[in-house]
This record gives sequence, structure tokens and C-alpha cells, in this order.
Amino acid sequence: QKLDLELAAIEKNGYDHFMLKEIFEQPQTIFDSLRGRLDLKHEQITLSGLDKISDKLQQANRIIIVACGTSWHAGLLAEYVIEELCRINVEVEYASEFRYRNPIITDKDVIIAISQSGETADTLVAMETAKKQGATIFGLVNVVGSSIARISDAGAYTHAGPEIGVASTKAFTAQLAVLYLMALKLAEIKQTISSETYQVLFDDLAKVPKYVQWVLDTQIDSIKRIANKYMDADDFLYLGRGYNFPIALEGALKLKEISYIHAEGYPAAEMKHGPIALVDEYLPVVFVATKDSYHEKIISNMQEIKARKGQVIAVVTEGDEVVTSLTEDTIAVPRVHEIIAPILSVIPLQLLSYYIGVGRGLDVDKPRNLAKSVTVE
Ligand code: G6P
Repeated sequence: QKLDLELAAIEKNGYDHFMLKEIFEQPQTIFDSLRGRLDLKHEQITLSGLDKISDKLQQANRIIIVACGTSWHAGLLAEYVIEELCRINVEVEYASEFRYRNPIITDKDVIIAISQSGETADTLVAMETAKKQGATIFGLVNVVGSSIARISDAGAYTHAGPEIGVASTKAFTAQLAVLYLMALKLAEIKQTISSETYQVLFDDLAKVPKYVQWVLDTQIDSIKRIANKYMDADDFLYLGRGYNFPIALEGALKLKEISYIHAEGYPAAEMKHGPIALVDEYLPVVFVATKDSYHEKIISNMQEIKARKGQVIAVVTEGDEVVTSLTEDTIAVPRVHEIIAPILSVIPLQLLSYYIGVGRGLDVDKPRNLAKSVTVE
């Protein structure tokens, strides 16, 4: 027992919890997931797994992404990004629903299965189902040699390293990094992207590890203060639009998992159709509100919450004075292209859940009732 505790302390490398250690590893793990794939000199992307099914992908009717939990959120963002950049129809499915609903699949479909563990039972069976019907299967997996990696026709590994915290953090950002690479590479092959946009996204992506480091270096005090202020709330609402909508869902999921506070993620505009009824002075509403094409719209959503006395917390682009004048509870991330912003805006939300969970005295590395890898239905 004593030995186990000492071993765990060594593995935590000075951090109080694995979750915190893994959040802080992200500049490195994102770098590792990009390394060898982003050729900075020639502005080229190499992804041998993608090359292997490049013809299939170019002729694909559609891409179907299957995943569970946090990996599903990575898939949802990939849908927005791949449709925008590659002009291929993308559907995102919960693996558990997909496997049971007799989906229509042909040999012109490409399935991308996303999984940290590579062992999630529902994702595995969803892939097998699609494979039997002739689809091409691409696996995006963190654990080398896992079942999902083995049954894929082609794939790419995320290089996040072992993730011990039950709630996924560094595996998620590694998935996003590789999905961005895939979207950019495919857009280039299909010639659906202008060279200017390619260049901006390529450069921003290469700098993501540095930008994540900036968030970790400069925003911790604000995040701790906000965590302290709201840790006794009973409910939270997370709102985002466009590329930041999947991050609102992921922020809410992290909070539920780690702090046991009820949280819901919603598309910001959809709040009028229900969640706005929940808003009162006790409800913290987290806006993922980095500068993008919908910025003015999300500001008006914030004003609607404020008018009903809700408490606004916002993840903003550094230097955004408009949002900062609306609420004192802001957390900044560096300014990047709107497509790349989500990989930065999720970092403060991971930390917010972490500090709230710790503040409530909970076991953030092993939340009750949750398993790291769900290998049964
Ligand atoms: C479990 C974990 C989550 C994870 C999900 C999918 O619920 O607690 O953190 O997102 O499974 O796991 P996978 O290994 O397939 O990504």
C-alpha cells in the first residue's frame, strides 16, 4: 500500500493529481502528435495512414465518424472542420446508437473511429458493423496495438502517452491536433482550400503547443478565482456557437465528470428554446466566446443572460475588451484562426472543472461510477 502511494507520487511528477499533470503535459503531447507530420520547411503534411486511403477518401460519398464520450466531441468538431475545408459530407454518430439502428452504409463510405483507449466496446462493434457492409475504416487511436487500431484498414495514432485520469484531457487535444492535420491534408489533396487559408491554418497549428503553454502560464490565477467563486453552484450552462459548440459540450461533460455538478452544453442560439428558462442569479453560464464569425451574435446571447441576472463566465480572445466589459469573469486564450481556436478554448474549461472538483474535495482522477475504458455495453 505504502509502496503504491509512493509510486503514484513519483508518477505524478510533483503534481497533486494525474489530471493536472496531464493538462499541463498538453503543450508537449500536442507537439508530439504533430511532430514528424508537419513539415515546417516545405509547409507539407505527412500522414501515411491517410495516404493509404486517400483515393477512397477523395471519392467518398461521406465520412461517418463514430465515437463515444469526449472522443465524440472531437468527432463533432471534425465534422465542422472537414465539411468547411474539404467539402465532404460528414456525419457524427454515437457508436452505441449507430451499431443498433441498422444504418445505411455502402462501400463508398469512410468510417473514422475515434478512441483514446482503442477498446471501447460500442465503438469497436460500430466499426465491425460498417466494415461488414463494405465501408473503409480509419482508426484514430491513442493506445498502440489496441483492438480498434488492429481492425482498422488504416489509421493514425495520437501521441498523447498514457492517460491515467479517467476524464480525458490530453487525449482529446491530441485527437483534435491529428484531425486538423487530416482535414488540412485532405483539403489540399482535393484542392478545396485556398493557399492563403492553408498557410494561416498550417502556421497556427504549428504554434498551438506554444499557445497552450501561454494559457497554462498566464491564466491559472483567473481560473482558480472563478472556480472558487462558483464551486457551490448546483447547475452550469455552457454555450458556444460554430466551432466552439463542441467545446461547450466538452466543457459541460468535464464539469459533470469531475465535480458532479449538473452541467449542460448547448448551441448558444438554441438556449432560447428551453435552457433560458433556467437562468436566474444562481446560474453560472460559461460562454466559449473567442473571436470568430459569430462573435457579435454570442455577445448578444451574453446580454440576454445578463438581462436575466445569470452569471456570465467567458473564454475570450486575448484583448477582447467588449466581452471583458460585460463580465469580470473572463479567461483569455491567444488569437488564432477560428478553426484552430477550439483546441485552445478547451484548456481553461478542463482547468475550471479540475479546480472546482478539487475545491469540492472530490477524487478528480477517479470520479465515482466512471471507468477509463468502457469495454462492456
Ligand atoms: C469513457 C471515459 C471517457 C472517454 C470515453 C470514450 O467514458 O471515461 O473519458 O471519452 O470512455 O473512450 P475512448 O477510449 O473510446 O476514447
